[in-house]
Amino acid sequence: MLDAFGQPQSVVVLGGTSDLAGAIVEALVRRRCRTVVLAGRDDQRLGAAATAATATGAQHVSTVRFDALDIAGAVATVDDAFDAAGAADLVLLAVGVLSHERDELDPERTAEVVTATYSWPATALTRAAARLREQGYGRIVVLSSVAAMRVRRQNFVYASAKAGLDAFSIGLSEALRGTGVAVQIVRPGRVPTKMTEGLPSAPMSSTPGAVADAVMAGLESGAPVIWVPPAARWAMGLARLVPQALWRRIPG
Ligand SMILES: NC(=O)c1ccc[n+]([C@@H]2O[C@H](COP(=O)([O-])OP(=O)(O)OC[C@H]3O[C@@H](n4cnc5c(N)ncnc54)[C@H](OP(=O)(O)O)[C@@H]3O)[C@@H](O)[C@H]2O)c1
Repeated sequence: MLDAFGQPQSVVVLGGTSDLAGAIVEALVRRRCRTVVLAGRDDQRLGAAATAATATGAQHVSTVRFDALDIAGAVATVDDAFDAAGAADLVLLAVGVLSHERDELDPERTAEVVTATYSWPATALTRAAARLREQGYGRIVVLSSVAAMRVRRQNFVYASAKAGLDAFSIGLSEALRGTGVAVQIVRPGRVPTKMTEGLPSAPMSSTPGAVADAVMAGLESGAPVIWVPPAARWAMGLARLVPQALWRRIPG
C-alpha cells in the first residue's frame, strides 16, 4: 500500500532497463519500496537493473521479458508483472524509442518508434489500470516528455507518439477519477541517458537524479503533471504560442 506520503512499497516498471527508470527505482527503494518488478526485452540489462535494485535495498526483485513491438503480448506482460509483484502500488511506464531525422524515410522504423512509444504503452496502461482498479488503489506514473508539447522537425515521429501517449494518459487519468487509482504524467526536458547519447545539449536539460527527485516529490504532492525542470512548464506554455515559422528557427 502507498504510505501517508504517497510512497509505494511495490513497483512494476514497464521499461525496467531504462536509465531514467533506474534512477527512479533507486530513489523509491531508498525510501520504502521493497518489491520491484522490472519488465524489459534484454536479459543482460534486466539482470544488471535487478542487481542494482537489490544492492540499493530491494528485498523482492523479479524480471519479466517483453518486446514492445509485440502489442498482442502486452496484456500477458502486465499480468505476469502484477502476479510477480503480488500487488502493485505503482506502475512506472518508461518504454520509449527516440527517432532521428534519418527515420523519416523509413516506414518500418516509423512504425517501430510509434509502436514502442505509443501503441504498446497505451495497450499496457489499459491493462495496468484494470489491474489497479481491481485492487482499488495504486498509481501510474507515465514518462512523457516536453517534446510532446510542441513537435520539432528533428524528432517528430517520436514527439508525435509522445504527444499521443501524453493525451492518452490525461484521458486515462480522467477515466480513473473516483476509483482510487491515479495517473501522474512526467514531462522531462532532455536528460543524458542511453536514449540521448551523442545528442548535443539542449535547453531545459536535467539529470536522471533530478527526474527521480521530481518524481518522489510528485508522488508526495499528487501533482497530476510533473515538469523537470519546473521552469519547463512555462517555457513550453510559451513555445506553444510561437508561430511555426519562428519555431523552426529556434535551436534545440
Ligand atoms: N532521456 C531523455 O532526454 C528523455 C526526456 C523525456 C522523456 N524521456 C522518456 O523517458 C523514458 C525512459 O527513457 P531513458 O532516457 O531512460 O532512455 P532508455 O534508457 O533508452 O530507456 C528506454 C526504455 O525503453 C525500452 N525499449 C525500447 N524499445 C523496446 C522494445 N521494443 N521492447 C521493450 N523495451 C523497449 C528500452 O529497453 P532497452 O534497455 O533494452 O533498450 C529502455 O528500457 C522514455 O519513455 C523516454 O521517451 C526521456
